[in-house]
Amino acid sequence: MASPQLLRFNPTGAINPQYGLQEHDLAALTPALERARHEMLQEDSRLYQSTTLPPEKDPLDHGFFEMPERLLKEQSELRAIDQATRLLKEKVDRVVVLGIGGSYMGAKALLDACCKPYFNELSRDERKNNPRIYFEGNNIDNDASQGLLRLLQSGPKTDKPEGRWGIVVISKSGETIETAVAFRQYLAALTTACGGDLAKAAQLVIPVTGKTGRLAKLSQEIGCTQTFPVPDGVGGRFSVLSAVGLVPAALMGLNIERLLQGAADMNEHFRTAPPEKNVVLQYVGATHLLETRRGANIRVLCVWSKALESAGLWYDQLLAESLGKRHMGATPLTTVNTRDLHSRAQQHQEGKRDKVFTNVIVDKWSEPALAVGHSKFDQDKLNQLQTKTLPDLMTAAIQGTNEAYAEDGRPTMDLHLPATDEHSLGQFFQMLMIATVVEGRLLGINPYGQPGVQKYKANMKRILGME
Ligand code: PA5
Repeated sequence: MASPQLLRFNPTGAINPQYGLQEHDLAALTPALERARHEMLQEDSRLYQSTTLPPEKDPLDHGFFEMPERLLKEQSELRAIDQATRLLKEKVDRVVVLGIGGSYMGAKALLDACCKPYFNELSRDERKNNPRIYFEGNNIDNDASQGLLRLLQSGPKTDKPEGRWGIVVISKSGETIETAVAFRQYLAALTTACGGDLAKAAQLVIPVTGKTGRLAKLSQEIGCTQTFPVPDGVGGRFSVLSAVGLVPAALMGLNIERLLQGAADMNEHFRTAPPEKNVVLQYVGATHLLETRRGANIRVLCVWSKALESAGLWYDQLLAESLGKRHMGATPLTTVNTRDLHSRAQQHQEGKRDKVFTNVIVDKWSEPALAVGHSKFDQDKLNQLQTKTLPDLMTAAIQGTNEAYAEDGRPTMDLHLPATDEHSLGQFFQMLMIATVVEGRLLGINPYGQPGVQKYKANMKRILGME
């Protein structure tokens, strides 16, 4: 079997002496990038086990980095995930994944990128007996939550899987109000669906949570037999390759070992590739220089595939929550092209020079290429394109947009994904998680923790009169 392809990164569209970078700028940053890489590689959690953490490194949720290799090597958690999700799949045809932020966005990214389009609309056979997946507990939106409850309750009345549903509830802290409230409400509905039998309902629930905390206690109390951990030292938005992302991914029928292998391959590349060939260091170097030297503090991730919109939103959270501290940090923005060329391109082409555009380009589409085709009605003048396919049009749109931006000195960079499959997504997640940490070290910002988010939570609890 041919060895799997790695992501490719090309920053040449950002090389522009007037508004962008020059090759020598990147070369001059190499020592600082090397230091940041070295620092990150030293940040093995073991390093701090017996010593006191320096305040600027507290918290140090570095555990995500080695997790892919560890899970692949140990195998025990992967086997348990496989077993628990197989059992649930045999029993139900719909699963609600409850979680928010880092406990949700990675799983949504995987569903949209790696499963067939319109997955939930497909028949059980077409889904290969994998359940339909819904997401809730990521808001406190009354109508959305009621709508999903109604949908679940109105399923076919049968004891076969087609008539039954289950829950995966994910919360590292076990205390996040959106998820906790949803769990209470969905568990009540599930218990009713199980004829009031809580023990039966609990068999259809898989919790993913920290070892201690309210959700861990509740899960035990109601009798959930299989609970998966969010390991200590792995922060929420860095947890997609733990059970947080792996349990939903296994339910979707995805190959979680390939996902982890993609991440492990990215680790190996990051550790060993020289700076000028290292996609992580190149990406960090170019975005960092454009921000600090050229004021490009809006970082636009232009995904050229609908399937990658949620992956872009996952990165929005990662970057914003990790580096948006101490009045610093670039502002992320995901655009889906060509759709958003019709809503944002005007500003991107002629607006403020405060943006860098990273194109995320899929090299191999999953479905056969769809040709424009011939028609005897040629009033739309499309017969001239009849042999062209949608991928041909997309390639022309990418090239045309890059050329238009280049003519005006707008910096673009290309990140190529070999495909929208598990191995590519594993690489993508790991690349951007490492890049965020390296950039944090370069800026002197601790990428872990999110102290600012606690403020609204505390206010909300006070307003509600909660303990
Ligand atoms: O990155 C983070 O830590 C956050 O986005 C959390 O994932 C989010 O707040 C949800 O937290 P929890 O998993 O504790 O419910």
